[in-house]
Amino acid sequence: MVRKVKIAVLVSGSGSNLQAIIDNIESGHLSAQIEIVISNTTEAYALRRAEKHGIPSIVIVSHDFSSREEFDQRLIAILNSHGIDLVVLAGFMRVLSPAVLNAFPLKVMNIHPALLPSFPGIHAQGQASDYAVKFSGCTVHFVDEGVDTGPIIIQAVVPVMPEDTEESLGARILAEEHKIYSQAIQWYAEGRLTVNGRRVSVANAAVARVSLCNPPLESPRN
Ligand code: GRF
Repeated sequence: MVRKVKIAVLVSGSGSNLQAIIDNIESGHLSAQIEIVISNTTEAYALRRAEKHGIPSIVIVSHDFSSREEFDQRLIAILNSHGIDLVVLAGFMRVLSPAVLNAFPLKVMNIHPALLPSFPGIHAQGQASDYAVKFSGCTVHFVDEGVDTGPIIIQAVVPVMPEDTEESLGARILAEEHKIYSQAIQWYAEGRLTVNGRRVSVANAAVARVSLCNPPLESPRN
């Protein structure tokens, strides 16, 4: 019996990743309990999603605090008061200070809509489609003190189509985000993740042995 990992989901926007996590918990595919949803804006639709599922939420707005440190101390206090095992960033548009990361070492995960280390930062989907790469995707990683630089847990790849826009590519990536975030959290719940420097090992995970070309090769080649 896998223990239920107690998570806080931090959001700033639509919360479709939050929704996928909720759905996976409710269908019994994810051994987690969302103790609290935390938003840094009252506008986040994610708050409505939490409410619909009876999940407590709290808004902490940066202008109520005189410094980043004060904001982060409040955040740490909330996380501690809920006995949080794992902090799940799901579209949270704020960089966490070392104080939070020190309070939750290797206990903060993030999802990024690109194949890191390509296209870190904002508008990753637009960066990828402007660059006209042939594949992009998404990455779940542990958070370190950099922006989108922490040890990588899982990535999913999607093709980039010639006619893609930021939106169409973003939608294709998002569908994969919804699958891989719950998978990473489940591995965490099962105690299967080991971090050694940059390298994250997943105990007993299968290995992907596929290679892809885009556009595909037109005949077998050596
Ligand atoms: C996702 O694309 C995620 O990768 C990025 O922010 C977006 C959040 O989307 N970090 P949603 O709020 O979960 O719908």
